[in-house]
Amino acid sequence: MKNEKDLIDSKTNKTSRRDFLKKTAGASAGLTLASLAWTASKANPLNESKEDFGKLQSAVQTRMLGDLEVSAIGLGCMSMKSGSYNPPRPNEEMIPVIRGAVERGVTFFDTAEVYGPFTDEELVGEALAPVRDEVVIATKFGFEFRNGQRAGRNSRPEHIRQAVDGMLQRLQTDRIDLLYCHRLDPNVPIEDIAGTVRDLIDEGKALHFGLSEMAPDTIRRAHAVQPVAALQTQYSLMERFPENQILDTCEELGIGFVPWGPVARGLFGDKFNEYSRFSENSRHNSVASFSPENLEKNLALLNLVREWGVRKDATPAQIALAWLLAQKPFIVPIPGTTKLHHLEENLGALNVEFTPEELNEFREEFEAIELGGVRSFASALEDQ
Ligand SMILES: NC(=O)c1ccc[n+]([C@@H]2O[C@H](COP(=O)([O-])OP(=O)(O)OC[C@H]3O[C@@H](n4cnc5c(N)ncnc54)[C@H](OP(=O)(O)O)[C@@H]3O)[C@@H](O)[C@H]2O)c1
Repeated sequence: MKNEKDLIDSKTNKTSRRDFLKKTAGASAGLTLASLAWTASKANPLNESKEDFGKLQSAVQTRMLGDLEVSAIGLGCMSMKSGSYNPPRPNEEMIPVIRGAVERGVTFFDTAEVYGPFTDEELVGEALAPVRDEVVIATKFGFEFRNGQRAGRNSRPEHIRQAVDGMLQRLQTDRIDLLYCHRLDPNVPIEDIAGTVRDLIDEGKALHFGLSEMAPDTIRRAHAVQPVAALQTQYSLMERFPENQILDTCEELGIGFVPWGPVARGLFGDKFNEYSRFSENSRHNSVASFSPENLEKNLALLNLVREWGVRKDATPAQIALAWLLAQKPFIVPIPGTTKLHHLEENLGALNVEFTPEELNEFREEFEAIELGGVRSFASALEDQ
């Protein structure tokens, strides 16, 4: 039997989609009627003139990452080109998704040099060029590349500078709004990395500094050299290790928190079951929480999230994202998707609210579930 998700995913099923749209961004996240009518009538935003495209944006609520204002939900663009969860998708298919996000009020776009490598930044640059001044582009350095392949970590100052010059070209811009160090280079003190980004900010090539997957002590040391606007680390109902000191550190220092993997790499998109198996090319194949035995355990959490979805008239993905948003006001999830209808669904999370009592009840329930293959709380204290 098809579940609601299957029906939503079916291009032909208009009825379930209409029902579902009651919890999409249009409901109360600030979309104007005019923009809704426009987005409904334009199948392909790629064909719009620069002028029209910029004008037709709508608004969703915003949040602050340090002193950087972004839409409360961003768009993770990794899987469009990385080949992580799906084969790389052609630009003609992905540009309308990115521009469709802008039209629905998303202003925060996440990419990295390593996605592709390079091709994801090129895609994001091309898609956002017409609205460059109205959006926030985040990208990440930290790796060395040889023959188009990742070849270890490298955050030496001269390499960061080289990487940033390449990023600016690929992103078709003169500044990177949020420049993250993707992973710590064990051969370079974090102070040198932060100092290099500080210099790039002084030169106007970057506007804000971010870190990814770093421990509280490293965050503090970096922040002392150049204030950090955002930490990007995995966090979801399934991967809760940042609750060990990471979120507290961000709160204390006024650093925003950007959870990657917010719908647990698709688990809360409700597209897997106990029979799901992944090909060698899929990232899911090498992630411990998706091994056959662990997936079976972790589906108990999906079931609970589904129950809460019924209770709160929302889809599991919306529950997962709304729960993240409810944890702290400085949390901005960046669900990754290659599909505009999933993006709309994800934005609908902005209309789902939890009372403090519900949050406690939910936590008691999910903490009682034994998960398999998730990251340990102790891992929060180590640079990844
Ligand atoms: N800093 C880091 O180290 C790091 C690591 C990984 C990722 N990231 C960033 O974080 C972003 C998000 O993380 P992620 O992509 O790993 O995990 P995610 O957002 O939890 O999951 C992405 C997967 O979920 C599916 N999905 C999303 N919304 C859905 C919905 N409403 N219904 C059904 N399926 C849905 C997507 O498939 P469809 O395409 O079919 O929607 C995709 O396969 C990435 O795009 C990337 O920009 C950063």
